[in-house]
Amino acid sequence: KEDLLLKNIQGNKPFPICFEDLEKAVAERLPAGPYGYIRSGAGGEQSLRNNRSAFAKYSIVPRFLTDVSEPDTSIELFGKTYPTPFLFAPVGMNQMVHELGELAVVRAAQRLGMPYIQSTVSSYSLEEVAETVPDHTKWFQLYWSTNEEIAYSMAARAESAGFEAIVLTVDTVMLGWREEDVRNQFSPLKLGLARGNYMNDPVFTASLKDDSLESYVEGILANIFHPTLNWENVRELKRRLHVPLLIKGILHPEDARLAIEAGVDGIIVSNHGGRQLDGVIGSLDALPAIVKAVDSRVPVLLDGGVYRGIDALKALALGANAVCIGRPFVYGLAYDGEDGVYQVMQNLYSEFKVSMGLSGQRTAAGLPAMTLIRE
Ligand code: FNR
Repeated sequence: KEDLLLKNIQGNKPFPICFEDLEKAVAERLPAGPYGYIRSGAGGEQSLRNNRSAFAKYSIVPRFLTDVSEPDTSIELFGKTYPTPFLFAPVGMNQMVHELGELAVVRAAQRLGMPYIQSTVSSYSLEEVAETVPDHTKWFQLYWSTNEEIAYSMAARAESAGFEAIVLTVDTVMLGWREEDVRNQFSPLKLGLARGNYMNDPVFTASLKDDSLESYVEGILANIFHPTLNWENVRELKRRLHVPLLIKGILHPEDARLAIEAGVDGIIVSNHGGRQLDGVIGSLDALPAIVKAVDSRVPVLLDGGVYRGIDALKALALGANAVCIGRPFVYGLAYDGEDGVYQVMQNLYSEFKVSMGLSGQRTAAGLPAMTLIRE
């Protein structure tokens, strides 16, 4: 049997083994602006801290003597089986840390068999991503738009490029209060790093004065924040789609119920990595009530602070069907491009698999039955 940790120790390229080591290594390599943009949370960063401390409140009570020689880590989502419960969370503007940006990330995602969720504000277009990995599972994260025709246009493009689900992010109706970016005077949007999907969007480009960088930036800023977003928008989007619609950013069980009423096919419990409203509940702390409200009617995913394999185990034990990973893969990309992304995600998965076995669990699907206590 493979020894997953030993493989790491014997690798010829030393790689930071945990999130904390990786963050430290990346801090030394990146300029303050991009590093601060990725690392930080909104305001005083209570939400960011809550995401991590939520995991530490739970302890596992393991079972033994269960023959864990053939762990089955696979999960099912929308009728498809995936080898691991990990997905790539949508993270915008990947060219901030690596020239190949999303293209490097999605190649690693394909090697890992982990679905990729592409951001609206990515540096490369959804068509370029689709061309890079035509056969890999991709979902498209949609930001609503002040001109809603732009949102419909992007969703339709994603569907025709083979994206298998649309993820509407609902917690970004205005930009969070991000003090680190003010300190560093850093705005990746203003640098034009979010243009990938806008440059070739016929509805968006028709609204521009000219094709200068300034016009793009002005157009994106005018559209991307959309405080009028409401449930009727969700119902109308759902009516136009041919693929499942997920909502990302749900924290209140009542919103989960309303989402299902509006026809939504899946929910991502998330506080945007602590980057939007400061002082909100950690996403893992929000999970149990949402799982209860959803009552297995649609899949529930979780992101925020999943920086160890054991965190994924706890999230699944509390009823999440899968977890999405944000900052860790971005740091991997910054550290060593496609291989760095691969290594980070592989380590998360390896620790997850080892932890499943050590807690006596044979299948990922059976994790909701394991014993967790809340300290
Ligand atoms: C994000 N996130 C995000 N979410 C989204 O829906 N669209 C986006 O474009 C982005 N962009 C983005 C950029 C950066 C640099 C970060 C760190 C995050 C939020 C992301 O999808 C996810 O919710 C969090 O990153 C999860 O938390 P962790 O894993 O970073 O703790």
